[in-house]
Order: sequence, then C-alpha cells, then structure tokens
Amino acid sequence: MGSYKKALQAALREGLRDGPENAIDVCRSKAPEIGRAVAGGGMKIGRTSHRLRNPANEPAPWVKPFLDAYAAGEDNSPWRAVRLDDGAVGYVEPIFVQPLCLKCHGAAIPDGVAEKITQWYPDDQATNFSAGDFRGLFWVTIAPASPDG
Ligand code: HEC
Repeated sequence: MGSYKKALQAALREGLRDGPENAIDVCRSKAPEIGRAVAGGGMKIGRTSHRLRNPANEPAPWVKPFLDAYAAGEDNSPWRAVRLDDGAVGYVEPIFVQPLCLKCHGAAIPDGVAEKITQWYPDDQATNFSAGDFRGLFWVTIAPASPDG
C-alpha cells in the first residue's frame, strides 16, 4: 500500500514536470501498471471514487458501503478492513485531494488538460474538488493463504 502510493505520487510528480497534459497519462496508464507491479501473491489493488472519472474504476460491491460512508462524512477512519465471503481480506484507505491534484480534478483545469479529459472520459465527474476533499478510496484484497502454503 505504502509503496503503491509512493510510486504513484513519484510518477505523477515526474509527469507534471513535463506539463499536466503529459501527467494525465500517469493517472491514466501508469496507475493500473503500478498497481499490477506492486500487487501479486494473491493481492489485488486499485482505486475508486464516489465521483468517478473512469467508469472502469467503479467500486466492487464490498467497497461500496465504505465508499458511501466516507463520502457522507460518516466514517473518518484512517483505514478499514473486512473479511470477505471467499476468505480474502479487503482493505480500504481514504484518498484526499492535494494541491497538486487540482490541475486535473479542481475547478480551474487548464484548457489542454480539459480537452483530453473530455475526449477520454465523456462521463467525467471528478472535477470541482478542493484541496482536502475526500476523493475516493485505495482498495486492496489479499487472498487467504493456501492450506499447504
Ligand atoms: C495530470 C492529471 C491528473 C492529476 C494531476 C491527478 N489526476 Fe487523478 N485522474 C486523472 C485521470 C486521467 C484519471 C482517470 C484514470 C483512469 O483511467 O483510471 C484519474 C483518476 C483518479 C482516481 C481514480 C478514480 C476515478 O475517478 O476514476 C483517483 C482516486 C484520483 N485520480 C485521485 C487523484 C489524486 C488524489 C491526485 C493528486 C495526488 C490526482 N488524482 C492527480 C488525472 C489526474
């Protein structure tokens, strides 16, 4: 989890140095890529939101109640974990908007960025956030250890 977030932020900062138009590709293609690299060993990892940019990041059924509670301000826990039906462990952690996120999720998005966002994500709901806002959840599932492992 820590390394996923660090890798993602590093990639984002690097991308932003070349302009937000390029950094879009970080959130777009690097996030899933980094997720796959950090995951493995029965672990899956991803991001979701109550205001989605990419519909493919829709919450899994077990994540939805957590997402709703955080979004409604009813849950302020730094993380939550739950045992899933198949014996796996599900873990979520809230994501908050930072100033560097506003170029692509804030109220005033530069034209070149806005164009790409509209083109790639016609149903985008992930704008007009302010720094400090709840943005969504990181989620992880960890499969149960196999009986002989
Ligand atoms: C350069 C533009 C850009 C910046 C900066 C950026 N994002 Fe994103 N963000 C995107 C794009 C594009 C997507 C859609 C990615 C995808 O296809 O999964 C996205 C998706 C997300 C998602 C997944 C849920 C969804 O809505 O699809 C979260 C959570 C998220 N961003 C949080 C953040 C946070 C937190 C920051 C700041 C640390 C940030 N983003 C900075 C462009 C950006």
